[in-house]
Amino acid sequence: MTRMIAHISDLHFCSVQPDVVEGLAADLSALQPDLLVVSGDLTQRARSHQFRTAATFLSRLTMPQLIVPGNHDLPLFDLVRRFLQPLQRYQRYIDENLQPFYRDQGMAVVGINTARAVSWRRNGFWKDGRISSEQLWNAELQFQGLPPDVFKVVVTHHPFIPPPGERLKGIVGGAPRALDRLEAAGVDLVLAGHLHMGFGEDVRVYHEAVKRSIWSLQAGTATSTRRRGEPNAYNVIRIGPTEFIISVRTWRGRAFQEGVRKTHERKQVDPT
Ligand SMILES: [Fe+2]
Ligand SMILES: [Fe+2]
Repeated sequence: MTRMIAHISDLHFCSVQPDVVEGLAADLSALQPDLLVVSGDLTQRARSHQFRTAATFLSRLTMPQLIVPGNHDLPLFDLVRRFLQPLQRYQRYIDENLQPFYRDQGMAVVGINTARAVSWRRNGFWKDGRISSEQLWNAELQFQGLPPDVFKVVVTHHPFIPPPGERLKGIVGGAPRALDRLEAAGVDLVLAGHLHMGFGEDVRVYHEAVKRSIWSLQAGTATSTRRRGEPNAYNVIRIGPTEFIISVRTWRGRAFQEGVRKTHERKQVDPT
């Protein structure tokens, strides 16, 4: 059975282009994926009215949804709220559950919140985010015992790898340890955003210790006006029994249209 995920990211309400927002709603409604993944930065500044607008947009879409917050979903200037109740508004308006999980016959998807009020990494800034051991433990529990033919996906806001050709910096804190454990848990695909750039790569290009292929897929910003030289876009992943196909749907001025399509062989986990 083929399953379909639509992966949107970095919506940044209310710094959006209204016609792109309407085009995205129409495109997703026509596509009707089995699951809509939103990999963070739903708002521009974590204000209540921005979360309400994001929630209204998501409520128009009728498919199942799995959402994680991004660094922009934490208050930036309200330091009291940032440190004492960083995700209160996100949880109030978007999703109370910070460990979302979706499962059907063909796939299992775990969301991990990587947004942090403070990053303790020596060389990092708080916008880079982090994964904790407890979050990995929860992901391992969710994937535990699932048949090897169930396609396993992890969703974060912050990326595990940098853009092609760039040095290994600006990625989520704890990435090497996380990939070790996600590999052991049989994860096939990691989905993220944050950079406002769309690209895909095998994590082994940057993390040589990982033995099995985990594909890392970044989404550009679906609706934000803050683009990095790329049009608004989002990803579609079609999962079959032996392969998965990734395509990018790009805003072409009046509508989203399908661009590059790339087929990847599924790597079955060796049960030994
Ligand atoms: Fe963003
Ligand atoms: Fe971000």
